[in-house]
Amino acid sequence: MNSKYPDLLHEAEEGMARAYAPYSNFRVGAAVLTRGGKVYRGCNIENGSFGATVCAERVAIFKAVSEGEAAVEAIAIVSANDPRILPCGICRQVLWELGGDLDIVIGNASSVEVLKLSSLYPQPFKKT
Ligand code: THU
Repeated sequence: MNSKYPDLLHEAEEGMARAYAPYSNFRVGAAVLTRGGKVYRGCNIENGSFGATVCAERVAIFKAVSEGEAAVEAIAIVSANDPRILPCGICRQVLWELGGDLDIVIGNASSVEVLKLSSLYPQPFKKT
């Protein structure tokens, strides 16, 4: 078991408890860990105007950034519907721009997987 982020998956699960997903019934939670050790939780928040839906990962990192956090170390992601959930394309771009090559933590207490964002998203868009 990877023990680098022992509590972060649990924090993401706590985040998922607040998921608002009445349209998809697909529940997601996320937890961002800053380099200073703070944790910001997120959940997916849907909307009847479907394009307004925001993924759990973006809710968590937007919360961190909006509180002044500039240095992010890791994000844990969980879903009740997918034991190996990975961030969508839009979230990969956002995480890269706001968090750099952070660690992505997925799995559960008995099997934790840590992936670098660059392994999932090797060629991000960069505005010149
Ligand atoms: N969703 C996330 O929150 N994170 C992901 O990585 C993928 C998808 C949400 C968006 C929507 O509320 C639901 O899952 C189904 O797509």
